[in-house]
Amino acid sequence: MISPKKYAKPAKIPPKGFKTANEFFDYVFRDKEMIWMGQNTNHLHQDTEIMDAMVDCVNSREYCKYPPPEGFPELKSLVLKDLGLSEEYDILITAGGTESLYLCMNDILEPENNAITCDPGYLIIDNFASRFSDQVKSVPIYNEECGYKLTPQLVRENMDENTKLVSLIDPLNPLGSCYTEKEIKEFADIALENDIYLLHDITYRDFAREHHLAAKYAPDHTITIYSFSKIFGMAGLRIGAMIGAPDVINSLRSILINDLGTNVLAQAGAIAALRSKNEWIDYIKNQTRANQKIIKDVVDQVEGAFLPVYPSDGNMMAIDISGTGIDPVALTDYLLERKVFVRQGSYTSKLFGDNYIRVSFSIPEYQVKIFAEKFLEAVDALKPL
Ligand SMILES: Cc1ncc(COP(=O)(O)O)c(C=O)c1O
Repeated sequence: MISPKKYAKPAKIPPKGFKTANEFFDYVFRDKEMIWMGQNTNHLHQDTEIMDAMVDCVNSREYCKYPPPEGFPELKSLVLKDLGLSEEYDILITAGGTESLYLCMNDILEPENNAITCDPGYLIIDNFASRFSDQVKSVPIYNEECGYKLTPQLVRENMDENTKLVSLIDPLNPLGSCYTEKEIKEFADIALENDIYLLHDITYRDFAREHHLAAKYAPDHTITIYSFSKIFGMAGLRIGAMIGAPDVINSLRSILINDLGTNVLAQAGAIAALRSKNEWIDYIKNQTRANQKIIKDVVDQVEGAFLPVYPSDGNMMAIDISGTGIDPVALTDYLLERKVFVRQGSYTSKLFGDNYIRVSFSIPEYQVKIFAEKFLEAVDALKPL
Protein backbone atom coordinates (compact mmCIF):
# COMPACT_ATOMS: atom_id res chain seq x y z
CA MET A 1 0.00 0.00 0.00
CA ILE A 2 1.16 3.55 -0.69
CA SER A 3 0.60 5.80 2.31
CA PRO A 4 -0.49 9.37 1.61
CA LYS A 5 2.17 12.05 2.06
CA LYS A 6 1.87 14.28 5.12
CA TYR A 7 1.73 17.81 3.76
CA ALA A 8 0.94 21.07 5.54
CA LYS A 9 -2.75 20.74 4.87
CA PRO A 10 -4.80 18.29 2.87
CA ALA A 11 -5.15 19.84 -0.57
CA LYS A 12 -8.95 19.68 -0.49
CA ILE A 13 -11.30 19.22 2.47
CA PRO A 14 -14.86 18.18 1.51
CA PRO A 15 -17.49 20.71 2.65
CA LYS A 16 -20.20 19.44 5.01
CA GLY A 17 -22.77 17.23 3.37
CA PHE A 18 -20.45 16.17 0.54
CA LYS A 19 -18.35 13.04 0.45
CA THR A 20 -15.52 14.69 -1.45
CA ALA A 21 -14.49 18.18 -2.52
CA ASN A 22 -14.94 17.02 -6.08
CA GLU A 23 -18.56 16.10 -5.44
CA PHE A 24 -19.13 19.57 -3.97
CA PHE A 25 -17.55 21.37 -6.93
CA ASP A 26 -19.52 19.25 -9.36
CA TYR A 27 -22.71 20.21 -7.51
CA VAL A 28 -22.04 23.96 -7.68
CA PHE A 29 -20.73 23.79 -11.24
CA ARG A 30 -23.81 22.04 -12.56
CA ASP A 31 -26.30 24.39 -10.95
CA LYS A 32 -26.85 26.97 -13.69
CA GLU A 33 -28.54 29.39 -11.28
CA MET A 34 -25.68 29.41 -8.78
CA ILE A 35 -24.27 32.91 -8.21
CA TRP A 36 -20.53 32.38 -8.46
CA MET A 37 -18.83 34.43 -5.73
CA GLY A 38 -16.72 31.61 -4.34
CA GLN A 39 -13.74 31.30 -6.67
CA ASN A 40 -12.63 34.83 -7.66
CA THR A 41 -13.48 34.01 -11.26
CA ASN A 42 -14.67 36.58 -13.76
CA HIS A 43 -18.11 36.28 -15.33
CA LEU A 44 -18.29 39.72 -16.91
CA HIS A 45 -16.80 39.19 -20.37
CA GLN A 46 -19.18 40.18 -23.13
CA ASP A 47 -16.68 40.39 -25.98
CA THR A 48 -16.59 37.69 -28.61
CA GLU A 49 -12.92 37.82 -29.71
CA ILE A 50 -11.76 35.30 -27.13
CA MET A 51 -14.61 32.91 -27.81
CA ASP A 52 -14.32 33.31 -31.59
CA ALA A 53 -10.60 32.53 -31.52
CA MET A 54 -11.28 29.30 -29.66
CA VAL A 55 -14.19 28.34 -31.91
CA ASP A 56 -11.94 28.94 -34.96
CA CYS A 57 -9.34 26.70 -33.36
CA VAL A 58 -11.93 23.96 -32.87
CA ASN A 59 -13.17 24.32 -36.46
CA SER A 60 -9.66 24.09 -37.83
CA ARG A 61 -9.18 20.83 -35.92
CA GLU A 62 -5.67 22.00 -35.12
CA TYR A 63 -6.14 20.58 -31.67
CA CYS A 64 -5.08 17.22 -33.05
CA LYS A 65 -1.47 18.49 -33.08
CA TYR A 66 0.72 19.07 -30.05
CA PRO A 67 1.64 22.73 -29.59
CA PRO A 68 5.24 23.92 -29.07
CA PRO A 69 6.08 22.64 -25.57
CA GLU A 70 6.84 26.02 -23.95
CA GLY A 71 3.95 27.90 -25.53
CA PHE A 72 3.40 29.63 -28.85
CA PRO A 73 6.08 32.34 -29.27
CA GLU A 74 3.36 34.86 -30.09
CA LEU A 75 1.69 34.21 -26.75
CA LYS A 76 5.00 34.37 -24.88
CA SER A 77 5.76 37.77 -26.44
CA LEU A 78 2.27 39.07 -25.77
CA VAL A 79 2.52 38.21 -22.06
CA LEU A 80 5.88 39.96 -21.74
CA LYS A 81 4.49 42.96 -23.56
CA ASP A 82 1.45 42.99 -21.28
CA LEU A 83 3.79 43.24 -18.30
CA GLY A 84 6.04 45.81 -19.93
CA LEU A 85 9.00 43.41 -19.66
CA SER A 86 11.60 43.13 -22.38
CA GLU A 87 12.38 39.96 -24.35
CA GLU A 88 15.40 39.57 -22.08
CA TYR A 89 13.10 37.88 -19.60
CA ASP A 90 12.28 34.27 -20.26
CA ILE A 91 8.80 32.81 -20.02
CA LEU A 92 7.08 29.44 -20.00
CA ILE A 93 3.38 28.99 -20.70
CA THR A 94 1.79 26.60 -18.17
CA ALA A 95 -1.60 25.11 -17.38
CA GLY A 96 -2.27 27.96 -14.94
CA GLY A 97 -0.75 29.86 -12.06
CA THR A 98 -1.20 26.71 -9.97
CA GLU A 99 1.20 24.68 -12.08
CA SER A 100 3.65 27.60 -12.11
CA LEU A 101 3.55 27.85 -8.31
CA TYR A 102 4.17 24.14 -7.87
CA LEU A 103 7.11 24.11 -10.26
CA CYS A 104 8.73 27.09 -8.54
CA MET A 105 8.46 25.47 -5.11
CA ASN A 106 9.87 22.26 -6.51
CA ASP A 107 12.78 24.03 -8.17
CA ILE A 108 13.76 26.52 -5.48
CA LEU A 109 13.25 24.74 -2.18
CA GLU A 110 15.46 22.10 -0.56
CA PRO A 111 14.31 20.34 2.62
CA GLU A 112 16.51 22.50 4.87
CA ASN A 113 15.10 25.75 3.42
CA ASN A 114 12.09 27.61 4.64
CA ALA A 115 9.56 29.66 2.74
CA ILE A 116 7.73 32.71 4.05
CA THR A 117 4.04 33.04 3.25
CA CYS A 118 1.18 34.85 4.98
CA ASP A 119 -2.06 34.00 6.75
CA PRO A 120 -4.66 34.76 5.44
CA GLY A 121 -3.37 33.81 2.01
CA TYR A 122 -3.69 31.34 -0.81
CA LEU A 123 -3.14 28.13 1.15
CA ILE A 124 -2.25 26.04 -1.88
CA ILE A 125 1.06 27.94 -1.90
CA ASP A 126 1.79 26.75 1.66
CA ASN A 127 0.78 23.25 0.71
CA PHE A 128 3.09 23.18 -2.30
CA ALA A 129 5.97 24.69 -0.30
CA SER A 130 5.57 22.06 2.40
CA ARG A 131 6.04 19.31 -0.18
CA PHE A 132 9.64 20.40 -0.74
CA SER A 133 10.72 22.20 2.42
CA ASP A 134 10.45 21.11 6.04
CA GLN A 135 9.28 24.49 7.21
CA VAL A 136 6.78 26.98 5.91
CA LYS A 137 6.59 30.15 7.96
CA SER A 138 3.12 31.54 7.57
CA VAL A 139 3.14 35.03 9.05
CA PRO A 140 -0.12 36.26 10.65
CA ILE A 141 -1.17 39.45 8.87
CA TYR A 142 -4.84 39.83 9.76
CA ASN A 143 -4.48 43.18 11.48
CA GLU A 144 -4.59 46.87 10.72
CA GLU A 145 -1.09 47.52 11.98
CA CYS A 146 0.49 45.74 9.00
CA GLY A 147 -2.26 46.87 6.61
CA TYR A 148 -3.53 43.27 6.24
CA LYS A 149 -0.48 42.30 4.20
CA LEU A 150 2.96 40.77 4.57
CA THR A 151 5.19 43.84 4.92
CA PRO A 152 8.96 44.08 4.28
CA GLN A 153 9.39 44.58 8.03
CA LEU A 154 7.51 41.36 8.80
CA VAL A 155 9.64 39.49 6.28
CA ARG A 156 12.84 40.77 7.91
CA GLU A 157 11.55 39.75 11.35
CA ASN A 158 10.63 36.26 10.19
CA MET A 159 13.60 35.37 8.01
CA ASP A 160 16.63 33.38 9.02
CA GLU A 161 19.68 31.92 7.28
CA ASN A 162 17.56 29.10 5.82
CA THR A 163 14.95 31.31 4.20
CA LYS A 164 15.06 30.81 0.45
CA LEU A 165 11.75 32.12 -0.80
CA VAL A 166 9.18 34.80 0.03
CA SER A 167 5.74 34.45 -1.47
CA LEU A 168 4.07 37.76 -2.33
CA ILE A 169 0.49 37.48 -3.49
CA ASP A 170 -0.25 40.88 -4.91
CA PRO A 171 -3.13 41.77 -4.76
CA LEU A 172 -3.70 39.33 -1.92
CA ASN A 173 -6.30 36.61 -2.06
CA PRO A 174 -8.53 36.80 0.08
CA LEU A 175 -8.21 40.38 1.36
CA GLY A 176 -7.47 42.48 -1.71
CA SER A 177 -4.49 44.30 -0.18
CA CYS A 178 -1.78 45.34 -2.64
CA TYR A 179 1.80 46.65 -2.52
CA THR A 180 3.07 50.16 -3.10
CA GLU A 181 6.13 50.77 -5.26
CA LYS A 182 8.14 51.57 -2.13
CA GLU A 183 7.22 48.23 -0.56
CA ILE A 184 8.07 46.32 -3.74
CA LYS A 185 11.47 48.06 -3.85
CA GLU A 186 12.08 47.05 -0.24
CA PHE A 187 11.20 43.44 -0.98
CA ALA A 188 13.60 43.59 -3.93
CA ASP A 189 16.34 44.88 -1.62
CA ILE A 190 15.69 42.03 0.82
CA ALA A 191 15.94 39.49 -2.01
CA LEU A 192 19.17 40.98 -3.36
CA GLU A 193 20.83 41.42 0.05
CA ASN A 194 20.06 37.83 1.09
CA ASP A 195 20.17 36.10 -2.28
CA ILE A 196 16.67 34.70 -1.91
CA TYR A 197 13.73 34.48 -4.33
CA LEU A 198 10.53 36.48 -4.50
CA LEU A 199 7.62 34.52 -5.82
CA HIS A 200 5.48 37.37 -7.09
CA ASP A 201 2.00 36.01 -7.71
CA ILE A 202 0.25 38.68 -9.78
CA THR A 203 -2.87 36.66 -10.56
CA TYR A 204 -5.14 39.64 -9.64
CA ARG A 205 -2.84 42.42 -10.92
CA ASP A 206 -5.22 43.95 -13.44
CA PHE A 207 -7.94 44.66 -10.87
CA ALA A 208 -5.56 46.86 -8.87
CA ARG A 209 -5.65 50.64 -8.99
CA GLU A 210 -1.86 50.64 -9.19
CA HIS A 211 0.55 47.74 -9.46
CA HIS A 212 4.34 47.30 -9.45
CA LEU A 213 6.39 44.35 -10.61
CA ALA A 214 9.14 43.05 -8.35
CA ALA A 215 10.76 41.69 -11.54
CA LYS A 216 11.69 45.26 -12.47
CA TYR A 217 13.67 45.79 -9.23
CA ALA A 218 15.10 42.31 -8.62
CA PRO A 219 15.09 40.70 -12.07
CA ASP A 220 17.39 37.81 -11.17
CA HIS A 221 15.61 37.06 -7.89
CA THR A 222 11.96 37.20 -8.91
CA ILE A 223 9.69 34.68 -10.52
CA THR A 224 6.43 36.24 -11.65
CA ILE A 225 3.35 34.03 -11.61
CA TYR A 226 0.80 34.93 -14.28
CA SER A 227 -2.75 33.64 -14.73
CA PHE A 228 -5.43 33.88 -17.41
CA SER A 229 -8.12 32.83 -14.92
CA LYS A 230 -9.19 36.18 -13.48
CA ILE A 231 -9.17 39.40 -15.51
CA PHE A 232 -9.27 37.33 -18.72
CA GLY A 233 -12.20 35.24 -17.47
CA MET A 234 -10.65 31.96 -18.60
CA ALA A 235 -10.40 29.92 -15.37
CA GLY A 236 -11.84 26.74 -16.86
CA LEU A 237 -9.33 26.80 -19.71
CA ARG A 238 -6.44 26.33 -17.28
CA ILE A 239 -3.69 28.54 -18.68
CA GLY A 240 -1.02 30.76 -17.15
CA ALA A 241 2.70 31.41 -17.24
CA MET A 242 5.85 31.96 -15.22
CA ILE A 243 8.38 34.63 -16.05
CA GLY A 244 11.91 35.17 -14.83
CA ALA A 245 15.55 35.70 -15.69
CA PRO A 246 16.87 33.20 -18.30
CA ASP A 247 18.95 31.31 -15.69
CA VAL A 248 15.99 30.86 -13.39
CA ILE A 249 13.66 29.75 -16.18
CA ASN A 250 16.34 27.40 -17.49
CA SER A 251 16.47 25.74 -14.14
CA LEU A 252 12.65 25.40 -14.17
CA ARG A 253 12.88 23.77 -17.60
CA SER A 254 14.65 20.84 -15.99
CA ILE A 255 11.60 19.89 -13.89
CA LEU A 256 8.74 20.54 -16.33
CA ILE A 257 5.97 17.98 -16.31
CA ASN A 258 3.87 19.18 -19.22
CA ASP A 259 6.52 18.29 -21.77
CA LEU A 260 4.01 18.26 -24.62
CA GLY A 261 2.76 21.74 -24.00
CA THR A 262 -0.38 23.57 -22.88
CA ASN A 263 -3.87 23.17 -24.36
CA VAL A 264 -3.99 24.71 -27.87
CA LEU A 265 -7.55 26.00 -27.49
CA ALA A 266 -6.63 27.81 -24.31
CA GLN A 267 -3.59 29.34 -26.02
CA ALA A 268 -5.70 30.53 -28.96
CA GLY A 269 -8.09 32.18 -26.48
CA ALA A 270 -5.21 33.69 -24.50
CA ILE A 271 -3.66 35.25 -27.62
CA ALA A 272 -7.01 36.81 -28.56
CA ALA A 273 -7.54 37.95 -24.96
CA LEU A 274 -4.24 39.81 -24.86
CA ARG A 275 -4.72 41.31 -28.32
CA SER A 276 -8.16 42.64 -27.42
CA LYS A 277 -7.42 43.58 -23.80
CA ASN A 278 -7.67 47.36 -24.32
CA GLU A 279 -11.18 46.97 -25.67
CA TRP A 280 -12.69 45.29 -22.60
CA ILE A 281 -10.53 45.93 -19.56
CA ASP A 282 -12.12 49.23 -18.49
CA TYR A 283 -15.59 47.75 -18.51
CA ILE A 284 -14.49 44.77 -16.39
CA LYS A 285 -12.60 46.90 -13.89
CA ASN A 286 -15.35 49.53 -13.57
CA GLN A 287 -18.13 47.00 -13.09
CA THR A 288 -16.07 45.04 -10.57
CA ARG A 289 -15.46 48.23 -8.60
CA ALA A 290 -19.11 49.29 -8.74
CA ASN A 291 -20.10 45.83 -7.46
CA GLN A 292 -17.68 46.21 -4.60
CA LYS A 293 -19.43 49.40 -3.53
CA ILE A 294 -22.79 47.59 -3.38
CA ILE A 295 -21.23 45.06 -1.00
CA LYS A 296 -19.65 47.81 1.10
CA ASP A 297 -23.04 49.53 1.46
CA VAL A 298 -24.75 46.38 2.65
CA VAL A 299 -21.95 45.43 5.08
CA ASP A 300 -22.15 48.93 6.57
CA GLN A 301 -25.76 48.19 7.53
CA VAL A 302 -24.77 45.20 9.67
CA GLU A 303 -23.68 45.80 13.23
CA GLY A 304 -20.57 43.79 14.00
CA ALA A 305 -19.52 43.35 10.36
CA PHE A 306 -16.81 45.28 8.51
CA LEU A 307 -14.48 45.11 5.53
CA PRO A 308 -10.85 44.78 6.64
CA VAL A 309 -9.64 46.12 3.29
CA TYR A 310 -11.70 48.58 1.25
CA PRO A 311 -11.50 49.19 -1.57
CA SER A 312 -10.04 45.83 -2.46
CA ASP A 313 -7.48 45.86 -5.26
CA GLY A 314 -8.60 42.40 -6.31
CA ASN A 315 -11.95 41.06 -7.47
CA MET A 316 -12.59 39.60 -4.03
CA MET A 317 -12.59 40.68 -0.42
CA ALA A 318 -13.15 39.45 3.10
CA ILE A 319 -16.22 40.44 5.10
CA ASP A 320 -15.36 40.24 8.77
CA ILE A 321 -18.41 39.01 10.71
CA SER A 322 -16.70 38.21 14.01
CA GLY A 323 -18.68 40.95 15.81
CA THR A 324 -22.02 39.47 14.74
CA GLY A 325 -21.52 36.16 16.56
CA ILE A 326 -22.28 34.31 13.33
CA ASP A 327 -20.20 31.32 12.29
CA PRO A 328 -18.76 31.84 8.77
CA VAL A 329 -19.51 28.21 7.91
CA ALA A 330 -23.17 28.62 8.89
CA LEU A 331 -23.37 31.78 6.80
CA THR A 332 -21.73 30.09 3.81
CA ASP A 333 -24.11 27.13 4.08
CA TYR A 334 -27.13 29.42 4.42
CA LEU A 335 -26.16 31.33 1.27
CA LEU A 336 -25.34 28.16 -0.68
CA GLU A 337 -28.81 26.82 0.00
CA ARG A 338 -30.10 30.04 -1.59
CA LYS A 339 -27.80 29.58 -4.58
CA VAL A 340 -25.11 32.06 -3.61
CA PHE A 341 -21.65 30.45 -3.51
CA VAL A 342 -19.14 32.21 -1.20
CA ARG A 343 -16.25 30.80 0.89
CA GLN A 344 -15.85 30.55 4.64
CA GLY A 345 -12.65 32.08 6.03
CA SER A 346 -11.02 28.72 6.77
CA TYR A 347 -10.55 28.21 3.04
CA THR A 348 -7.89 30.92 3.06
CA SER A 349 -6.75 31.02 6.68
CA LYS A 350 -5.69 28.57 9.35
CA LEU A 351 -5.61 31.25 12.06
CA PHE A 352 -8.41 33.69 11.27
CA GLY A 353 -10.92 31.56 9.40
CA ASP A 354 -13.56 32.06 12.10
CA ASN A 355 -13.59 35.80 11.46
CA TYR A 356 -14.72 36.21 7.88
CA ILE A 357 -16.26 35.01 4.67
CA ARG A 358 -14.67 35.74 1.27
CA VAL A 359 -16.76 37.00 -1.62
CA SER A 360 -15.72 37.69 -5.19
CA PHE A 361 -17.60 40.14 -7.34
CA SER A 362 -16.63 40.07 -11.05
CA ILE A 363 -20.18 39.04 -11.75
CA PRO A 364 -23.25 40.80 -13.20
CA GLU A 365 -24.52 43.60 -10.96
CA TYR A 366 -27.97 42.08 -10.51
CA GLN A 367 -26.34 39.04 -8.92
CA VAL A 368 -24.42 41.21 -6.47
CA LYS A 369 -27.73 42.79 -5.50
CA ILE A 370 -29.18 39.33 -4.84
CA PHE A 371 -26.15 38.60 -2.66
CA ALA A 372 -26.72 41.84 -0.74
CA GLU A 373 -30.34 40.94 -0.09
CA LYS A 374 -29.55 37.36 0.98
CA PHE A 375 -26.66 38.53 3.16
CA LEU A 376 -28.97 40.76 5.21
CA GLU A 377 -31.53 37.98 5.40
CA ALA A 378 -28.83 35.53 6.57
CA VAL A 379 -27.58 37.88 9.28
CA ASP A 380 -31.12 38.23 10.62
CA ALA A 381 -31.71 34.50 10.55
CA LEU A 382 -28.37 33.43 12.04
CA LYS A 383 -27.43 36.08 14.59
CA PRO A 384 -27.47 34.80 18.17
CA LEU A 385 -30.48 35.96 20.22
C1 LIG B 1 -3.19 33.89 -5.51
C2 LIG B 1 -3.60 32.88 -6.52
N1 LIG B 1 -2.66 32.33 -7.32
C3 LIG B 1 -2.98 31.42 -8.26
C4 LIG B 1 -4.29 31.01 -8.42
C5 LIG B 1 -4.62 29.95 -9.42
O1 LIG B 1 -4.54 30.44 -10.69
P1 LIG B 1 -4.79 29.50 -11.98
O2 LIG B 1 -6.27 29.39 -12.15
O3 LIG B 1 -4.10 30.24 -13.07
O4 LIG B 1 -4.16 28.18 -11.70
C6 LIG B 1 -5.30 31.56 -7.62
C7 LIG B 1 -6.69 31.12 -7.79
O5 LIG B 1 -7.62 31.51 -7.16
C8 LIG B 1 -4.94 32.51 -6.64
O6 LIG B 1 -5.85 33.06 -5.85
